[in-house]
Amino acid sequence: MSVLAETLLGDGRALRIVEPTAADAEAICGLIREAFGNRPVVDPPPPALSETPEGVIAALAGGFGVLALVDDQPAGVVIVSVDGPMAGIHRVSVRPQYQRQGIASALVEVAIELLTLRGTSGVELVAREEFPQVVSWWRRHGFVEVARQGTSLTLARQLPVRLAAPTAEDTQAIGRRLARVLRAGDVVIASGDLGAGKTTLTQGIGAGLEVAGSIISPTFVLSRVHPSTVGGPALVHVDAYRLGSAAELEDLDLDVSLDDSVTLVEWGAGVAEGLAEDYLEVDIRRTLDPADDTRWIFLTPIGERWTSVRAELEAL
Ligand SMILES: Nc1ncnc2c1ncn2[C@@H]1O[C@H](COP(=O)(O)OP(=O)(O)OP(=O)(O)O)[C@@H](O)[C@H]1O
Ligand SMILES: [Mg+2]
Repeated sequence: MSVLAETLLGDGRALRIVEPTAADAEAICGLIREAFGNRPVVDPPPPALSETPEGVIAALAGGFGVLALVDDQPAGVVIVSVDGPMAGIHRVSVRPQYQRQGIASALVEVAIELLTLRGTSGVELVAREEFPQVVSWWRRHGFVEVARQGTSLTLARQLPVRLAAPTAEDTQAIGRRLARVLRAGDVVIASGDLGAGKTTLTQGIGAGLEVAGSIISPTFVLSRVHPSTVGGPALVHVDAYRLGSAAELEDLDLDVSLDDSVTLVEWGAGVAEGLAEDYLEVDIRRTLDPADDTRWIFLTPIGERWTSVRAELEAL
């Protein structure tokens, strides 16, 4: 059992998240049956109610499990199936006495992180419409409905493409290559802490698009338009750091130039999603080692425009 994450629960107890092995199948099976048996009855009953240790062993072999231990006792589990570039989340189970402490969220987050590291492009699951709170829980975790059969909804979420940029020049070079994928009407929403490298990436994009004017953190102006020098789209560079809401962003009258420019919004998460139905989400993160300048750049394609160019993003 390898330890994947460790944290403390609100009540001070230790939560350890581990990758289980076939030896844990019996305990996992009991946990799944207990969690699903505690839910209101639905018709048809979920297959999880008739889970067996053999079924768990087969499921672990077709992907992996993520098991939560509270003070070393099994408290929750998620089983992930992996099928080429796609993955499925199954049997999300938390024993009744451990519920409402964020254990399911922690399990799903770890599962999604592992899938991102493997380069998986998307993840799906089935949720029952009879449990609207469960469906909205998945929506809060970024899942959207993609299909339905009876009362079973298929919910899916795109996973980010992960790129490493050891130096600021590498981040700029990724921006330059990303510019080749960008076209008029595109919206890029960048997030990441102060000094993460959002402006540095934008400088690369500006160089790649061949736009005029130097790209700097737009601290005093909220947005700056960089016209193309080669007859291509302009770059609209917005800093939403001091914008409190989407309404304030709309007050900038960005719409006038949205269709014929590339719009990049720094600090745009939670503010700029309304600008377009399809957008590229960019999240830049440092490593845990302060002596290491490497940035991890996560690109999440949202909508058809971006999912259709996922392979190009992976090749950046
Ligand atoms: N691998 C790297 N990628 C990007 N920037 C790096 C890297 N290594 C070091 N740096 C430095 O980190 C700083 C990033 O600053 P930048 O202004 O791009 O961040 P930002 O995310 O736009 O910050 P703010 O939130 O203040 O706008 C720059 O000084 C850059 O030279
Ligand atoms: Mg900046």
